[in-house]
Amino acid sequence: MAQQQIELKRGLNGVYFDTTESSDVMPEGRLIYRGYDIHDLASKSTFEEVVYLMMHGALPTRWQLADFDAALKAARKLPPEVIDIIVKVKGAHPMDVLRTAISALSAFDGETETMGKDANIRKGIRLTAQTASIVAAHHRIRQGKPMLEPDPSLSHAGNFLYMLLGEKPDKDTAELMDRDFIVHLDHSSNASSFAARVTASTLADLHGCVVSGIATLKGPLHGGAAEGVMKMALEIGDVSNVESYLAKKHANRERIMGFGHRVYKAEDPRARHLRDGSALLAQKKGQPKWFQILSKVEEQMRPYAQRGICVNVDFWAGSVYYLLGIPEDLFIPIFAVARVPGYVVQVIEQQGRNVLIRPLVQYVGPHDQQYVPIDQRG
Ligand code: CMC
Repeated sequence: MAQQQIELKRGLNGVYFDTTESSDVMPEGRLIYRGYDIHDLASKSTFEEVVYLMMHGALPTRWQLADFDAALKAARKLPPEVIDIIVKVKGAHPMDVLRTAISALSAFDGETETMGKDANIRKGIRLTAQTASIVAAHHRIRQGKPMLEPDPSLSHAGNFLYMLLGEKPDKDTAELMDRDFIVHLDHSSNASSFAARVTASTLADLHGCVVSGIATLKGPLHGGAAEGVMKMALEIGDVSNVESYLAKKHANRERIMGFGHRVYKAEDPRARHLRDGSALLAQKKGQPKWFQILSKVEEQMRPYAQRGICVNVDFWAGSVYYLLGIPEDLFIPIFAVARVPGYVVQVIEQQGRNVLIRPLVQYVGPHDQQYVPIDQRG
């Protein structure tokens, strides 16, 4: 049979599948959330306020924000049954633990099967708070340390660091984590949000959609790159090794983690906030080495910019987490802590005017194969 002439868009590269009002990623290196520039939000707002903006579509009044913040804080504690599950699976990768625990939460959320925007916002607030608590609780449990009670005097980012590391962060550090969460919150049709939308398009429940997103975020071409960048910095070990390290990678045609993006063809606008954070921490902690190594890598990779391969958000994120004393296998879970409300926003948008997402794939295998019973096969 003659093959039908079909124009394939592998990886859906360049394909628009719907419209969105949540965020826009522009090739020239611009990112907006609900029309607000990411640089304004990162420097002037807070994670709580930006989550409200994204879920409700407008910035909150002072009272609306206070209520929203109270609801987030009220949801920080995890059901004891979910803690038991975390204990049972504590040896797995933290992303797998997170995926499992979020899935388990659906059994203990009274509104799992309740659909609609209002229920999804209420569940989304709970999931936002619980995601941070799961990542922190698992890390404490696997270290054999007691879990910490959430501290209502701390912001979402500050409380996360406190529950994770056991020390209340200073103002600069809490603000840096807050900024990190803001810039990671949403990113148009990224792979994991798309996965959450595909799940949402079947009218599945929010917990299931978030589980799809988290499973997809884990891969090294998406959320996993920050871990790869820090691994690279550790392998390089000294600024004098950067050139030879990169030469070897280029000769083997290996990708350099933290560079390149499907949409941005200029520097990822999120990167500058984490570069500033990395510089601040390097100075504060008296450990300039990682900042120096990464700055040199960035400088050496400059010729790649002509091909649109520039620094992305993950390049600097890893060094920020590392300098905060956070182990590498928690880098993607931290991304997830910030991105879960992004999934919620996209699920609400998808289900608000739903259409089943079900593309076509061209079959190129054989036709007319004759079935041979198993005992007659050679
Ligand atoms: N280092 C070296 N070469 C690269 C890189 C890189 N990091 N990224 C892309 N290229 C080259 C690639 O080898 C290919 O070259 P050629 O045409 O000669 O074969 C060309 O650029 C196009 O690459 P592609 O894979 O077709 O482009 P893509 O749009 O599918 O890839 C990407 C986007 C992010 C998967 C890719 O740039 C990459 O693998 N980067 C490294 C991983 C990384 O940093 N990921 C984090 C992305 S930002 C966080 C997020 O939002 O998820």
